[in-house]
Amino acid sequence: MKRVYYLVFFSGIFLLLLPYCYTDKKAWHKGNIMPEGFAKLTRQDQVLYCAKCHQQEYDNEMKGPHANAYQRFQQHVAFVNSDKYDCAWYTASVNKKKGECVSCHTPQDLFQTVFEKRVDNMDPMASLRANIKPFPPPRVAESSRSTSVDCISCHYDGQSILATNSKPHQLFNAPECNPKDNPIMSSNMTCYPCHWDAVNTLLPDAARLTVKDAKCTSCHMEHDAKGNVTHYTFWKHDSPDKHNVLIERIVDDFSVNINKDGLAEITWLNTAVPHELAPGPEMIFKCQLLSQDSNVIGTKVVRMNLKKKIDTEMAEVFGTKILGGVDGDPPKLDHTPLKYTFDVKNTADAKMMRITLIKKAQHWFPDSLGIYKTERVIGLQRPL
Ligand code: HEC
Ligand code: HEC
Ligand code: HEC
Ligand code: HEC
Ligand code: HEC
Repeated sequence: MKRVYYLVFFSGIFLLLLPYCYTDKKAWHKGNIMPEGFAKLTRQDQVLYCAKCHQQEYDNEMKGPHANAYQRFQQHVAFVNSDKYDCAWYTASVNKKKGECVSCHTPQDLFQTVFEKRVDNMDPMASLRANIKPFPPPRVAESSRSTSVDCISCHYDGQSILATNSKPHQLFNAPECNPKDNPIMSSNMTCYPCHWDAVNTLLPDAARLTVKDAKCTSCHMEHDAKGNVTHYTFWKHDSPDKHNVLIERIVDDFSVNINKDGLAEITWLNTAVPHELAPGPEMIFKCQLLSQDSNVIGTKVVRMNLKKKIDTEMAEVFGTKILGGVDGDPPKLDHTPLKYTFDVKNTADAKMMRITLIKKAQHWFPDSLGIYKTERVIGLQRPL
């Protein structure tokens, strides 16, 4: 009888070890698992190597912000240096900073630079946060820059492909990339080197109002019907075939009524955004109060930006010069509403409000550079 137990016990262990026996030891542990010659490929060909087997991830990545970050940055530099832009001191400041800017727009591999040697740290969050703004160093060779923030920047430590929840069966069917789980990759820290403001200020409870996991990717990456990420990241220049759910959630937070003073009153109760925003972007909510037959009877423009904060912070750099733009409000993270009132010709006519949402990359640039995101008509909430 005892023998049977032994047999069951040892065959159990054998089965558990099987995956390790089957894969190339070099691939599973130390040593570079990428095929010989991978290191010598151009950056573009390294990304295309991943694309060979991860077509969906590649296609979606190409439509998102990270694969286009270097081109967008170059367009910005070209724009401020063109005749279309007329603010010499800002242009001079961008030209001076160019070398530092590129660190996030075309970075060296995170796991071979900022995350190096921190992989086994029990608390990667604490050790990284101690290094307040751990910008990754930029890639130097101009020819390597066009892939911007790419697969290799986020997933490769020089030896292995890093993943969040690779499954045992992948040891059999993915010898070519042999993903290895990594604690930083599974946390929001992957985003930290370039989005430290959002990571530092994220309120998990606020995030869980809309998603199960308080993860950056839960909200910012598209998910398919089965709930798996498709690797598309929503952004201001969304591809026309993508439906940005975040934009809908933001507009959902707006309501309108006529208050006791006879003024139209917009209430913005933020439930969509669980963290502070980046310094640059702006959302413009053009709110038009409409009558039954859709005549505009009052208009209010609400702006979501960090202009007041940035102007104060940038005083150190820019002195008395102030960037353009119009003051707005950051989204409130304490679940209290913001209210905006405005005059209406005849309150009795008010029936609904049309919200047109425009997103701008820089609040200090003219509104004409904004990108149309969505339009929604909501009914007026009459007090009971
Ligand atoms: C020859 C094919 C092949 C190539 C090339 C390849 N992979 Fe993979 N990869 C796979 C397979 C197969 C899996 C396992 C997928 C599964 O079973 O869900 C996998 C898994 C992964 C995972 C983990 C998926 C998960 O569910 O957690 C990541 C991340 C990954 N690959 C990234 C990359 C990157 C980045 C590159 C380029 C450097 C790359 N792969 C190159 C075939 C490949
Ligand atoms: C800490 C990392 C980091 C550095 C350094 C950095 N950026 Fe960015 N940049 C970002 C992130 C993240 C975004 C996206 C969020 C946003 O829109 O602000 C962005 C967005 C942009 C955009 C908007 C592009 C678009 O989609 O239209 C431009 C332009 C830009 N940055 C230019 C610059 C310039 C110029 C500098 C140097 C003065 C710079 N960046 C430095 C991280 C960085
Ligand atoms: C900005 C960093 C970043 C870049 C760039 C990036 N990834 Fe990822 N990738 C992630 C993160 C984070 C996850 C985990 C998402 C989750 O499940 O929450 C992930 C998940 C994955 C997965 C597993 C989930 C799935 O979609 O099957 C694969 C495969 C993958 N990435 C491949 C790629 C490939 C191929 C590229 C380049 C075309 C790439 N990644 C570029 C950060 C990145
Ligand atoms: C190496 C730096 C880097 C890392 C790491 C990184 N990003 Fe980004 N991200 C950028 C840059 C640069 C942009 C601006 C791209 C542009 O608009 O040109 C950006 C843009 C974005 C945008 C779009 C902003 C907008 O509205 O246009 C989102 C959303 C985003 N990143 C989410 C994430 C998430 C989530 C992670 C972690 C999985 C992550 N990023 C990791 C550099 C990075
Ligand atoms: C509960 C959902 C949710 C979670 C979780 C979340 N965000 Fe956001 N985030 C939003 C919404 C909503 C916006 C505003 C819409 C937009 O700009 O596209 C936003 C805006 C952004 C932007 C756009 C640029 C800006 O600042 O205006 C970036 C970049 C970003 N988030 C990064 C992150 C990172 C990094 C994390 C993880 C620490 C994260 N977000 C977690 C919902 C979320």
